[in-house]
Amino acid sequence: MGSLANNIAAVAAVLAALVAGGSCGPPKFPPGPNITANYNGLWLPARATWYGQPNGAGPADNGGACGIKDVNLPPYSGMTACGNVPIFKDGKGCGSCYEIRCKAPDECSNNPVTVFITDMNYEPIAPYHFDLSGKAFGALAKPGLNDKLRHCGIIDLEFRRVRCKYVGGQKIVFHVEKGSNPNYLAVLVKFVAEDGDIVQMELKEKETPEWKPMKLSWGAIWRFDTPKALKGPFSIRLTSESGKKLVATDVIPANWIPNTVYKSNIQF
Ligand SMILES: *[C@@H]1O[C@H](CO)[C@@H](O)[C@H](O)[C@H]1NC(C)=O
Repeated sequence: MGSLANNIAAVAAVLAALVAGGSCGPPKFPPGPNITANYNGLWLPARATWYGQPNGAGPADNGGACGIKDVNLPPYSGMTACGNVPIFKDGKGCGSCYEIRCKAPDECSNNPVTVFITDMNYEPIAPYHFDLSGKAFGALAKPGLNDKLRHCGIIDLEFRRVRCKYVGGQKIVFHVEKGSNPNYLAVLVKFVAEDGDIVQMELKEKETPEWKPMKLSWGAIWRFDTPKALKGPFSIRLTSESGKKLVATDVIPANWIPNTVYKSNIQF
């Protein structure tokens, strides 16, 4: 993690490289530096596109590159985006939150709206790229002009990382993935407040004292493989990007079954 000055210098270098870039074919941009949970409040430039249905959450309502399903429903309610490399971060960025706003074209309101990262798009169209749901893209417009703004297809944005807020006392939810068995447990984590993203998930069987580190499988799914059959109930320890830890004690019961949601009573 660089200092603020380093980050700014790195972004400036990327932007300078763009201006100096070749002129044949569509421009390709190297990714910007990773966006971290520093919440410095600075707005950075990005580009936005949109995908899916005009008022929908995108074609991947049922699981994009983060593996999070039903993103059209609350609490995400379709306010979702695919991030490019420094935003999606190989899945580590899943669930993180950004404020975005646009000044031009005239349809833009310049009012910030918040989106959740639930998918990836690594097309090199800008150092920072948000491929928004149709709903999120339209939400950048002045009242009544969302369709007109969507007709632009691609616009310049400003963005900044913000802490994720969930209303109504929403707690962190785990989903034991399809295909899990006593030798292979895969757990998706969602609805994580504050940083939104998880940098480490650990597992503890009730009857053993040690915490076992899980591996990031893909998206927001962490896995543990073992020749010795696992025995529930399981507790899960989460580490957020800022280094805070939380334990969901016995959140997955002894009689757990694959493809099932287990709600915790914890939240950052
Ligand atoms: C950016 O994030 C990715 C994914 O977590 C990681 O592999 C890479 O090392 C990070 N780059 C920097 C410069 O921290």
